[in-house]
Amino acid sequence: MQGQHADGFETLAIHAGQEPDPLTGAVVPPIYQVSTYKQDGVGGLRGGGLGAGGGTGPAHWVEGYEYSRTANPTRGALEECLAAIEGGTRALAFASGMAAEDCLLRTITRPGDHVLIPHDAYGGTYRLLDKVLQSWGVSYLPVPVSDPAAVRNALRDKPAKVVWVETPTNPLLSIADITALAEIAHAAGALLAVDSTFASPYLQQPLALGADVVVHSTTKYIGGHSDVVGGALVVADAGLGERLAFLQNATGTAGGPFDAWLTLRGIRTLGVRMDRHCENAARVADLLASHPSVREVFYPGLASHPGHETAAKQMRGFGGIVSMRVRGGEEAAVAVCGRTRLFTLGESLGGVESLIEHPARMTHASVAGSALEVPADLVRLSVGIEHCDDLLEDLRAALG
Ligand SMILES: Cc1ncc(COP(=O)(O)O)c(C=O)c1O
Repeated sequence: MQGQHADGFETLAIHAGQEPDPLTGAVVPPIYQVSTYKQDGVGGLRGGGLGAGGGTGPAHWVEGYEYSRTANPTRGALEECLAAIEGGTRALAFASGMAAEDCLLRTITRPGDHVLIPHDAYGGTYRLLDKVLQSWGVSYLPVPVSDPAAVRNALRDKPAKVVWVETPTNPLLSIADITALAEIAHAAGALLAVDSTFASPYLQQPLALGADVVVHSTTKYIGGHSDVVGGALVVADAGLGERLAFLQNATGTAGGPFDAWLTLRGIRTLGVRMDRHCENAARVADLLASHPSVREVFYPGLASHPGHETAAKQMRGFGGIVSMRVRGGEEAAVAVCGRTRLFTLGESLGGVESLIEHPARMTHASVAGSALEVPADLVRLSVGIEHCDDLLEDLRAALG
């Protein structure tokens, strides 16, 4: 930043936390594949006050390096960059999105506390609350978070510590109004956590809209190449950041240096990738919306989507995920998943390559029989950045 000029997203993605290495001039932060660090006398830690990047990001948190579970320069570079591109004061990088979620929920809640989650939340979030945290005395309630009144009523019935929002949701792409929910949550004394994995920091910045914490599975768009699993939390409040960092260190859930390096490499192209994901997904959604084999299309970019207006207000693009219900029920949905050439059958999303999956039997099998069960005829597409004409041809052939 110079004077009043604030660097734009793409500039921060390439430079924040990533100053050339002071020793060699290497333009990419080195992989500090190391567990421990020489101290200059007992307690004399080196590198205090600076992240690996030397300081273009919003803040520097490192008191010096002693042990890589606590702090590592490559992870520090990633965290500084994540904080900058998400507009936060601090970010923490984890070994997975689920590790990030667990750290957040266990930092904020105690036995007897209550959490609201989307009634179409990601299956892993539901499983963490239902099968793990509930047995430690934390209760949860699924609510339609795209309806602010439903959230207000649920908080009136039973106060919650956290209102957990995913927007857009996985796999039904419903949209929650972050500004409205921040007001409602705060008025009830709850924190608003937004899982912004589907949007990425390029399309949506929840902290600027009033959220307290942003959650990412960096495995998805942020990493962007289906070659690394990771997660992140980004906060505006430094005190909350300290509490999260304490639990991250206490439980040892940070990601490793090579994972951080790969994720940072992905971030540098996040903006251009997201533009292409959005462009291709919009064309895929248009094709599916008029296809006779498709019953219903879920894509917030379609004017017919119930969350379209809210999405247009709080996102700069509608993302790269499109879901559809196909005619012919579960068997037809499974058959389509087996007939594509370029859309690879696989879990996960957000990589450069297109993926197809059947949520009910794959990513969302853990919500079967619960209030969060997804339709059996649902197919989810992660639209990649291949040539769009090829993707459309592939889908036309698979749908018959
Ligand atoms: C919306 C959302 N949040 C969190 C996660 C969990 O992230 P990870 O798989 O990196 O643990 C996922 C994974 O698919 C997800 O889609």
